[in-house]
Amino acid sequence: MRNRRAALVAIASAASLALTLTACGQNSEGGSEEDKGGGNDATVGIAMPTKSSERWITDGANVEKELKAKGFKTKLVFGEDDPDQQVSQIENMITQGVDALIVAAIDNKSLGNVLQQAKDADIPVISYDRLILGTENVDYYASFDNEKVGELQGGYIADKLGLKAGKKGPFNIELFAGSNDDNNTRYFFQGAMNVLKPYMDKGQLVVRSKQTALNQVTTLRWDGGTAQKRMDDLLTSSYRSARVDAVLSPYDGISIGILSALKSDGYGSGSKAMPVVTGQDAEIASVKSIKAGQQTQTVFKDLRELAKVAANMVDAVLNDKKPEVNDTKSYDNGSKVVPAYLLQPVSVDKSNYKKVLVDGGYYTEGQLN
Ligand code: GAL
Repeated sequence: MRNRRAALVAIASAASLALTLTACGQNSEGGSEEDKGGGNDATVGIAMPTKSSERWITDGANVEKELKAKGFKTKLVFGEDDPDQQVSQIENMITQGVDALIVAAIDNKSLGNVLQQAKDADIPVISYDRLILGTENVDYYASFDNEKVGELQGGYIADKLGLKAGKKGPFNIELFAGSNDDNNTRYFFQGAMNVLKPYMDKGQLVVRSKQTALNQVTTLRWDGGTAQKRMDDLLTSSYRSARVDAVLSPYDGISIGILSALKSDGYGSGSKAMPVVTGQDAEIASVKSIKAGQQTQTVFKDLRELAKVAANMVDAVLNDKKPEVNDTKSYDNGSKVVPAYLLQPVSVDKSNYKKVLVDGGYYTEGQLN
């Protein structure tokens, strides 16, 4: 039994049962009643990266809800996007005796030591949304098909510009990627490049800044302000006498920064149409922006489902069962291939937000007004 608290209860009750039975002149074989229950009185520690983005607040609430529905207790912490703070939060939860951990890393390489402590204390670890790298002490990974996210963003741009339908261009595009310490970043970028690179190679898509390598386009901690500053600089350096037709943005918070820079430069008014701007997470502010004709697209990832996957994984490992996984080869963290359950992302724009997000019960139309 992985659930240490339940195991202790079971040992204690087996001992008292033994005393009782001994007193009655019987032997104690056969185990205790408590041992059969599956032990969902365990406490699960949940470490989320930040409250500065709506999605992680939703994740925290959803994961708690799913775990509580299964009878678990929870401890939920947010790391303010500070890797050191996240390490000490996890250390504290280990000291407090949590039975399992669900972690969405801030810096995917900073958790090796603290997860060794978890291992030493026999605490299983689920890597949530973002893969933790460089340690064997990650048991399972719950996420989305992250390369597909990028393919949806890149595919949307190619579609919207008419490239897929045979338009030749050339169109001007600038590329943004996520935080370089988040493993998802390279999957999103790779996915987008799978679609966009062939058009770039043929000169149908032109990156006037020439910043096309991943390490030139990352955005530390996914910060919208950082992205806004970079977009301002790009517009000044490369678009004084040209227009930008599309911006690959990996995440809604970054898109909002990009859109602010574009608006300050006159895009979205008069004859200067907004470029195609992608995103991810379907955060409320971005869905409103899509409805208003500013951001063009986002990628919806159903966080209700992700929370269920993570809670099911915890439930299984703490009850000595094998969690359901659907991918055992894509996510090598440098120390092992982490068995994963990957959910499917969905591209959302003005044409289908109602069907996907409102009819799907994710948001009410009122929340999006
Ligand atoms: C990524 C996540 C994205 C987005 C981003 C910024 O790890 O997969 O959906 O939320 O972080 O928070």
